[in-house]
Amino acid sequence: MHYEFARTVPPAGFPKFHDIPVERFTSDEFWDLEQKYLWPRSWVLAGRVEDIPNVGDFFTFDSLGPPMLLIHGRDHEIRAFYNTCQHRGAPVVRDPSGTSKLLRCQYHSWSYDIDSGQLVSVPDERDFVGLDKSQRCLPTLRCEIWDNWIFVNQDPHAVTLLQHLGPIPDELAELQGSSLRTVAKRSKVIACNWKITAEAFLEVYHFRHIHSRGGQSLLDSRGATMGLLPNGCSRMITPFSSHAYQALGMKNWDDYLHVAPKDFTDIESVNDMVRSTSSAYGIFPNLITPIAAYGFPFITFWPIDKKTTQIEWTHYAPLDFDPKQGLTAPWQERMTSFDAIMQEDFWNMAPMQNSIQSPAMRGVPINYQERRIWHFHEHIDRLIGIDNIPTTMRVAQLLDPYVER
Ligand code: FES
Ligand SMILES: [Fe+2]
Repeated sequence: MHYEFARTVPPAGFPKFHDIPVERFTSDEFWDLEQKYLWPRSWVLAGRVEDIPNVGDFFTFDSLGPPMLLIHGRDHEIRAFYNTCQHRGAPVVRDPSGTSKLLRCQYHSWSYDIDSGQLVSVPDERDFVGLDKSQRCLPTLRCEIWDNWIFVNQDPHAVTLLQHLGPIPDELAELQGSSLRTVAKRSKVIACNWKITAEAFLEVYHFRHIHSRGGQSLLDSRGATMGLLPNGCSRMITPFSSHAYQALGMKNWDDYLHVAPKDFTDIESVNDMVRSTSSAYGIFPNLITPIAAYGFPFITFWPIDKKTTQIEWTHYAPLDFDPKQGLTAPWQERMTSFDAIMQEDFWNMAPMQNSIQSPAMRGVPINYQERRIWHFHEHIDRLIGIDNIPTTMRVAQLLDPYVER
C-alpha cells in the first residue's frame, strides 16, 4: 500500500493491455463457450454444512442450471448428485430442502441409495426388458468442503477445491469459517451479463464516484493493492480514507488498530490490518467476499442468460442469537447499510449492459489498478481453453509473472 501511494505510474515493465473485446459480454458465441466449458469446470459455492447436519438432510442447488442436490449420507459424508431421475427424468426431490433416508422419485418411485446413488428399487421391474440397475445410478458430481462452505464441480478431472483456492484457506483461517453461521441471505436479478456484475467487486477505482457518503469516500483507492493469486483468484486490500480512519481513532491509514466491533460478536483472531482496512478476496469464478471481524458477506453471481444475472449475498458471522427468530437491531442496521451499497452498484449495472451493446462501444480499456479484472478474464480463457475461443474474443495471457506463488 505504501508502494501504491508513492508510485506516479504503473511499475516499470507492467504490460500494456489491449481492450477487452466487447463480444465477451454481448455475444451468443461467448455465452455458449462459457456454458460449454467454463461453468462445467468451475468450483462454485452450493451451501453450508450446518444446513444439512443430520443423516438424510438435503438441499437442492439449481444456480448453475442443471438441478443438483446435496445430501448428508449415513456415513456422514456430504455428497452431490444431479437431481435427475434416470427413468424418465423427473426431479428426484422437489422440496428445496428436507430429510430423506432414500431418494425416491415421485413419478414412478424409482429409489436411489443416499450414499452411493445406486438404484435400489424399481416398481414392476419385470416389465423392463434387460434393465441393468447398476447402470442407472443417480449421477454424482464433485463436492468438497472448506471451513463448512460446500463447493461443487461438475468436472471429474478438476483440481481439488483446496488446490483451486491456493493460499486463501490459510489466509482466511483467522475468520474461523467453521464456527460461523448464516445471518441472512439476499438476492436480486440484474439485467446484465454476470461478468459485469462480478467486475464491480474486483476494483475500487469506482468507489469514491459511486459510494461516497456526504461527499466523503470511506476508502482511498490510490493505496489499493491487488494480490493476483493462482487460478484467477485474487485479493484486494484498500486503505481507509483520512475521514474514515480518523473516525476510528487512527492517526494514519497504516496505524492499524484492533478495532473491535461494537454491538457484534467479535471474531477475535482477525488481524488488525483487516480490522482497519477494506480487505476482500475473489474466488474464481463467481464469489467475492469483503471480510470483517464481526462477520461478512459472500457475494455470488449466477448467470441466467447472456444479459441476466442473479446476485446473491449471504452474511456469515459468529452468532449469539437465532436469526430465524429475527435479527438483532445492529444486524438489521448492518444489513440495511450493506444493501444500500449493493444498490449503488446495481444502479450502474443494467444500464451498462445496454450501453456496452451499442455500436459506440469498441472495447474495454483496463488500467493497472483494475488488473484483477484482467486476471479474471485470463483465467476464464484458460478454463474455456484458449484454442476454443475465436482470436478476436480472447484476452492476452499477460499477468502470469505477477501472480503470487
Ligand atoms: S421418472 Fe423417476 S421414476 Fe419415473
Ligand atoms: Fe461498488
